[in-house]
Amino acid sequence: MNRYAVFGQPVSHSLSPHIHAAFGRQTGIALEYTAIECAPEAFADAVAAFAAQGGQGSNVTLPHKQAAADLCSELSERAQRAGAVNTLARRGDGWFGDNTDGAGLVRDLTGRHGLDLRARRTLLIGAGGAARGVAPSLLDAGIGDLYIVNRDSKKADALADLLGEPGRAHARYFEDLRDLGNFELIVNATSAARGSGLPSLPMSLVDSRTACVDLSYGEAAIPFLAWARAAGAHRSVDGLGMLVEQAAESFTLWHGVRPDTDPVYAELHARHA
Ligand code: ATR
Repeated sequence: MNRYAVFGQPVSHSLSPHIHAAFGRQTGIALEYTAIECAPEAFADAVAAFAAQGGQGSNVTLPHKQAAADLCSELSERAQRAGAVNTLARRGDGWFGDNTDGAGLVRDLTGRHGLDLRARRTLLIGAGGAARGVAPSLLDAGIGDLYIVNRDSKKADALADLLGEPGRAHARYFEDLRDLGNFELIVNATSAARGSGLPSLPMSLVDSRTACVDLSYGEAAIPFLAWARAAGAHRSVDGLGMLVEQAAESFTLWHGVRPDTDPVYAELHARHA
């Protein structure tokens, strides 16, 4: 049986084993997909042990996405641009690293939620692994200017530089947010709700055309999406659809078959909305 896994810390709450099992049943592909919890210092050894046991591919989540990029012998162009990997695929003796988060987000927003992203003036909050994963795909999807804010402003600068589009991607300080006017798309890519709380955001960022997206789902998405609704956002979207779509992108890379995401999303949405 082909072995797959997701590496993270914490990872016990991950829905990925459930999603990949559902895709496997739907497509008739036999696979085992487990969740492997490991600390950052144990990550490289854990991936090596997984490979030695016949592991064919894995997803990588918090906090290992940047470390995963360093393990790879080859990276997809989108993983290089993100500087972060969420998908590893065995190639010979090494790993090919890809990042399916951004494609998953764009597919969810444009397909499932029917949002036209083109020319949208966009604010990205956060510059960690999740933000790096989605920023290149948002630019490729044709958004307008992308403003990036992060608690550690050096990381916002570094991400803006990495994107290589100085005319479109701009780093700003949180303190500047009041002067930036409103945005047509605001993406919360921080892990703040899981830790010490959401940074304070001025409601002037939002107007009645704004779509607000949190890359997390369930309880972690509640504070930001509640803020978005209170500020009068047109749409508020959590990260559950992105999770299912990025999983489908990974599944397609590993198995060469694209699963139908709608039934899997519908089932999870009924359980987690
Ligand atoms: P992920 O893979 O989820 O992006 P990460 O790489 O650890 O995880 O990044 C977490 C992101 O959430 C970072 O942008 C982090 O800001 P810093 O780079 O300044 O640490 C952001 N973040 C976490 N807690 C936060 C908080 N309480 N307020 C604001 N930003 C926060």
